[in-house]
Amino acid sequence: MGQCGITSSKTVLVFLNLIFWVESEVDRRIHKVYKTYNGTSPDAASRAIDYVQRQLHCCGIHNYSDWENTDWFKETKNQSVPLSCCRTSASTCNGSLAHPADLYSEGCEALVVKKLQDIMMYVIWAALTFAAIQLLGMLCACIVLCRRSRDPAYELLITGGTYA
Ligand SMILES: *[C@@H]1O[C@H](CO)[C@@H](O)[C@H](O)[C@H]1NC(C)=O
Ligand SMILES: *[C@@H]1O[C@H](CO)[C@@H](O)[C@H](O)[C@H]1NC(C)=O
Ligand SMILES: *[C@@H]1O[C@H](CO)[C@@H](O)[C@H](O)[C@H]1NC(C)=O
Ligand SMILES: *[C@@H]1O[C@H](CO)[C@@H](O)[C@H](O)[C@H]1NC(C)=O
Repeated sequence: MGQCGITSSKTVLVFLNLIFWVESEVDRRIHKVYKTYNGTSPDAASRAIDYVQRQLHCCGIHNYSDWENTDWFKETKNQSVPLSCCRTSASTCNGSLAHPADLYSEGCEALVVKKLQDIMMYVIWAALTFAAIQLLGMLCACIVLCRRSRDPAYELLITGGTYA
């Protein structure tokens, strides 16, 4: 049981480290991916950005202004961010920065990090719950065994053959 306790606290530490690591890793990667975004090519990273912006209702890394620094923005020369930045309620939205009210105002990085951390916290709680249930099971087994060994009828049963 002691072994088990050490293992689970080690697991929790590893996960806590992971949670902080995720933040810096997402930050590093998200900048890279935004930099190489291409609205017309079918590459996975660009499609992933559109997907995340639509699903998490966000635009840019910290806000939509981040798009102004991307090669894609400079190349299209029409002062527009991808349509995935458009609020679903803004039916006439064409991504133009001239109408910022049509765009999601939140940046994606914080939301992605939060989403990943939520998932990891969920995994940690599941692991802890599992460990607690196992511990409880062992405790129950112990109690039952200890009781039984003091029960004369049970003692007769296990030592039966030798004293008969
Ligand atoms: C995007 O990809 C297309 C082809 O898929 C290419 O012609 C275009 O130059 C790319 N644009 C940027 C900004 O890389
Ligand atoms: C976006 O964030 C930058 C700092 O990261 C800030 O200077 C800028 O004013 C923000 N833009 C909007 C539209 O909130
Ligand atoms: C985008 O839509 C707005 C109206 O919401 C319009 O004024 C603007 O000209 C459009 N921009 C382009 C490049 O089509
Ligand atoms: C700006 O250019 C891109 C790529 O050519 C296009 O997908 C987008 O619809 C344009 N946005 C507007 C507002 O014209």
